[in-house]
Amino acid sequence: MSIEEDLQDVRNMCEYCDKCSLSKTRTNIVFSGGIPNHKMMLIGEAPGYYEDQKGEPFVGKAGQLLDKIFASVGLSREKDVYICNTLKCRPPNNRDPLPEEKEACYPYLEAQIEILKPRIILICGKVALATMLNSPIGITKVRGKWFDGPFGSKMMPIFHPSYLLRNDSHEKGSPKWLMWQDIQEIKKAYDALD
Ligand code: URA
Repeated sequence: MSIEEDLQDVRNMCEYCDKCSLSKTRTNIVFSGGIPNHKMMLIGEAPGYYEDQKGEPFVGKAGQLLDKIFASVGLSREKDVYICNTLKCRPPNNRDPLPEEKEACYPYLEAQIEILKPRIILICGKVALATMLNSPIGITKVRGKWFDGPFGSKMMPIFHPSYLLRNDSHEKGSPKWLMWQDIQEIKKAYDALD
């Protein structure tokens, strides 16, 4: 089977999933966006209102900022990055995912990682960080650092674009400035892949 077929199988399972109560309130599952590839995957938190409506990740304001961040170093979701979330369904009122929701949804994310075996995994925000590093450590302590990930990948935690939207400063040391350092480091690692 091809990668696309393997991913489609997992997507179909998500379409019919009722392992947690979010299945009752979702409009659409949000399985993935961007391009399936072996190079780079970004894992966000969970769909918000617009994502739930469209069935696509990161299409609201945070997603627009994410696209700008990638574009600033010549990367794009259309050609360079596969985008998915810790949860495939929207938590009502965008509340934080509950432990039982994360547990129910994790096998789908695990399957996406196993099928693609991306060389670089970007862990976007605190919810993805807790899921992927299984540690309560704060994102400000670990952002911009490389960690060993599954299937020989390198993982880097980065700030969530929603957090950047709430922090307007561009001054040295501000979250936006730090994101700029991180995306340049990510681009270097991406260019070094064969
Ligand atoms: N925030 C996320 O973490 N993921 C989305 O898909 C949208 C907003």
